[in-house]
Amino acid sequence: MQKNITALLLCILLFAYSTSSHAGQTKEKVLLDSDMTEAFDDGIAMLLLAGAPNVELLGVTTLSGNSWVETGTACALRQLEEGGYTDIPVAKGLEYPLRPNRHDLFTLERKFVGRGHDYWVGSLDLKEPASWQAAYKAVYGQNPTMKPVDRHAVQFIIDTVRANPGEVTIAAIGPLGNLALAVRMAPDIVPLIKRVVYMGGAFFQQGNVTPAAEFNWYFDPEAARIAVRSPFREQLVLGLDLCEKVIFRAEHYDRFLKAIGDHPVRKMVRASFAGQSFEKDPNFTFFIWDVLVSAVIIDPSLITESVECFIDVNDQMGLSYGQGLAYPVEPPLGTQKARIVTAVDTERFWNLLCDPGYWKGKKQ
Ligand code: RIB
Ligand code: CA
Repeated sequence: MQKNITALLLCILLFAYSTSSHAGQTKEKVLLDSDMTEAFDDGIAMLLLAGAPNVELLGVTTLSGNSWVETGTACALRQLEEGGYTDIPVAKGLEYPLRPNRHDLFTLERKFVGRGHDYWVGSLDLKEPASWQAAYKAVYGQNPTMKPVDRHAVQFIIDTVRANPGEVTIAAIGPLGNLALAVRMAPDIVPLIKRVVYMGGAFFQQGNVTPAAEFNWYFDPEAARIAVRSPFREQLVLGLDLCEKVIFRAEHYDRFLKAIGDHPVRKMVRASFAGQSFEKDPNFTFFIWDVLVSAVIIDPSLITESVECFIDVNDQMGLSYGQGLAYPVEPPLGTQKARIVTAVDTERFWNLLCDPGYWKGKKQ
């Protein structure tokens, strides 16, 4: 009798262990904060995390940046629907950056600060949809089956971190307004966050949207400064110093299409700017920014070089507005340490992204 009870208890423990882990590995709890787009790059970054067996994607929070938050929210919902990940909550977040009237004054601002090597300025140059439902209907010609949770993204971040103390990795792949407001509204969450992995900044090279600044941090420099100056346990930064070294070529695009097979997002990938460009011109090249964040969360051993510095963001409106700053020594008061990733094993990165195992759709 005693033996039977022990065997039963052992089975229960084994079952609990196997459902909470992948091949004996505990799942990484991730909250994705994104200025969502279809496919490359935010959409693929999201679906890669959703399909990773060693990741539990706790939710997706959206905000304006690449696109207006209404469009980004619609795209997040649609891609999760297409992938069968309808249990992953989406919370809609900030519409505007913290500095007032940024969108209204952007044409003047551009004349004042000049352009970097990328043309794209996202929602700064796009007409705002009336609602996420209108954006969904306009893009997909039908009504959604999912809807965002009934909570603002800022509150969703706060609640999720408090419910999983010390366990949540925040993948911050857009501007940092949601995160900045979350830490201002609830400073108690700062030490409860396991780490923040950012796509943002250009520290040792030129920016993309202006000669000084990278898009995500330029979009909302005030918010970015609040976020990176928060005393998080760990900050990992994938700026342009890394992202512009990893070149996305037609050979990778072909391998990727092969890997995703008939995954329902295939048509979005082919219709995306990157997809269309590769299909027209085999010499086209692109970057893959946010996808690198997901990849290093899934497999941190991809990182081959990084530097530890104190970091900051310039929030003084001027030519270097939004610039990422790194201080190896004697940092300004209030700045915090971060690890800036400067190289990854690119071959292993493409192998990971083009592994069909991640592209089966809904986890079994
Ligand atoms: O500067 C690159 C960043 O801006 C990425 O997050 C990408 O999504 C973008 O448009
Ligand atoms: Ca992004």
